[in-house]
Parts: sequence; structure tokens; C-alpha cells
Amino acid sequence: MRVFSTLLATVAAVLFLACISCPSRAQDVAQTPPMGWNSWNYFAEKVDDKGVRAAADAIVASGMRDAGYVYVNIDDTWEGQRDAKGVLHTNSKFPDMKGLADYVHSKGLKIGIYSSPGPKTCAGYEGSLGYEEQDAQLYASWGIDYLKYDLCSFIPEVMEKQAPNDHPAQMRLMHAAYDKMAKALKATGRPMVFSLCQYGFDAVWEWAPSVGGNLWRTTGDIAPNMYSIYANMSLQAGLSSYAGPGHWNDPDMLEVGNGDLTLAENRAHFSMWAILAAPLLAGNDLPHMKPEIRNILTNREVIAIDQDKLGQQGSRVYVEGEVEVWTKHLAGGALAVAVLNVGDTRYSTHPFHLNLSSLGLHGSQKARDLWTGKEFELTEGMALELPSHDVLLARIAAPK
Ligand code: GAL
Repeated sequence: MRVFSTLLATVAAVLFLACISCPSRAQDVAQTPPMGWNSWNYFAEKVDDKGVRAAADAIVASGMRDAGYVYVNIDDTWEGQRDAKGVLHTNSKFPDMKGLADYVHSKGLKIGIYSSPGPKTCAGYEGSLGYEEQDAQLYASWGIDYLKYDLCSFIPEVMEKQAPNDHPAQMRLMHAAYDKMAKALKATGRPMVFSLCQYGFDAVWEWAPSVGGNLWRTTGDIAPNMYSIYANMSLQAGLSSYAGPGHWNDPDMLEVGNGDLTLAENRAHFSMWAILAAPLLAGNDLPHMKPEIRNILTNREVIAIDQDKLGQQGSRVYVEGEVEVWTKHLAGGALAVAVLNVGDTRYSTHPFHLNLSSLGLHGSQKARDLWTGKEFELTEGMALELPSHDVLLARIAAPK
């Protein structure tokens, strides 16, 4: 009898503990900023089944999967029509979504998809308005692991129609729409990362976690040029306290390897996203990427800054004209320092002098340059000659 009651008590304790962790289940995904690839930045509406399989293959072959890139995310333009029962079908570019998901999973990867709370997506395809539960169940039945939910037509079709000129009421409608999909995803029982895409409206970082958001775009769309990258990066300043395990600010997907970005710009972009603990979703043509781009995307020491277990988003510590200094505190007391030259006209005639005391550091520091892999000494007031749009990214293991 005593054995039986002890057993009963143990079972009850286990159930109790399991239940305590129930509300935090949604937090189990995205404990570090999500890493993977998304089709939009390079392929846009040209994405198809073949291209997604090729991207999955390239993630494995390039070493990206082993470096941490897990999610293969299909963005807009996969959607077909709904049938009489409301079931959404894929369009002809995606003949078998379940088969595609199985293929991606067979590579040791996860798969993501895209929709809108409005009647249409941004590219004019079928959205989820009125079909949230049904769509969430459909994603789960395919084995989807990640949903990017993009506001788009919800603005004119719901917010502006139902609450004309009443912005606070419009914002409440928007919160409710994200909450509805979060609940629908949760009801499937399948863990899915929930990515809010509404361009930062209504200080999204303040309420996104309460509607189940694991990451949320804080800005408009990124483009493959330094102005856009810098603008999105800048808008993260001051938002550090809102990021942490399970919930991240998203300055948008990577443009590394896209457009005419120079190697310095690609390096700077990747370094700053790491300092920001930003999601690292590559957005380039993976099967055709150049080795130097692969080397940037797979730099494990830079990725480790992004993925650091402490989950702290870095901060802009000081700015001197066109040079910015950011730091990120890391687990175990280490510190990452990024010095970014945003300008075009800083030469060896007037190099930038790094002020260590402004970073809370006292005297010389042993550091590692994460792009050259060399150990070096950071000294108070040292002159740094940074080419235009380039960065120094250093890790100080034991800051003094
Ligand atoms: C935009 C979004 C982009 C992409 C696009 C698809 O609203 O910010 O990242 O998803 O829609 O139509």
C-alpha cells in the first residue's frame, strides 16, 4: 500500500511539474535566435518546390546546417485556392507540400511557411482571414515547423474598414489577429516558431511575446545595400531589454551575398546581426553562392556571438561621427565588441581611436579578431584603420 501511495505521489508530482511548464511550452522553440534560410530576398515570387529542395541540399553541402542553419522557410507565393470546404491548396509551383516537408526533414532540417492574417498576402495570394484554425491544422499536417505571419492586407481590409481613423482600435484588431493565430498554432500541438511580420507597428516588442511571438520584425523590408542594412540595424538600438531566449527582435532577413554588397559590407552586415542577437536567416541563392560568401555565413565564431546562451541583444555604446561601437555581453562574462565604419571618408590620416573606458574596460585587453582568427591586444586609445563599411569584430574572453 505504501509503495502504491509513494508511486501515486511521484506521478502526481511529475504531472504537477509538467503542468507548471505548460504555459511556457511556446517558449521551448527559438531559445537562441532562429537560423536558416528564407526564399524571399533572392527568389521572391520565383520560389518553387525544386528551388526549396536545392536550397535544402545546399544548406547541407555548404556546411551551413552543421553551423546551425536549420529552418528552410518558404515565403510568399506558394498559396493556391481554397476548395468548397475551405481547405487551402498549394499552387502549381508546389505540387506536394507534405512531400517537400518530408524531404527537408530527411536532411535533418526544419521547414517554415508564410501567411497573412488578412484575406490576401502581400503578393496578393490567399491569406488566412477566417481560416486560422484550419490553416494551422493544415500546416501541422504537412509537418511545418515555423510560420511567418505578415500583416499585409489586414491593414486595408480589416483595420481600416472596421475602425476607420481610430488607430488605437486598429492596433487592438491587429493584436487580436496575431493572438488568434498563435492560439490556433498552439492548438495543433505541434511546436512551431511564430514570426510576426508587421514592420514594427505599435512598439511590437512590447506586446509580441504576449501573443506568442518568438520573433517580430521591427522595421520595414531590408534591401541589399548598406543604407538599408544600417537603417534596420540602427532601429534596434535601445531594444535590447525586449530580446531573450524564446523572443527576439528581428531586423529582417540577411542580404549577405545579395546585390552589389562588397565583402566588407557582407562581413559588417553579418557581424552586426550577430551583435544584435538577430535571427540569422540567409536570403541568398545558396546553390550558387561564392566560397567567400559561404565563409562569411559559416564563420562559427561569429555565429557563436549571435547564438550565445545568455541571449542578450547587444547595444550601441557610443558613436563618433561615422564610426559606431557596439558591445554584446556573453555567457561566462565574455564580451563581443564591434567597431563599424559606416562612412566613406576615414583614412589613415585620421584613424579612429577606440576608447576602452567608454566600454567599461580598464587598460589593455586580450582579444580575438573573429574575422582574421588572430589573437591581439586591444589597448586604450588604439588607432583603428577601418576601410569604408568594414567592421572590427572582437571577442574578449576575460574583460578587465
Ligand atoms: C513583405 C515582407 C517580406 C516578404 C513579402 C512577401 O511584407 O516584409 O519579408 O515576406 O512581404 O510578399
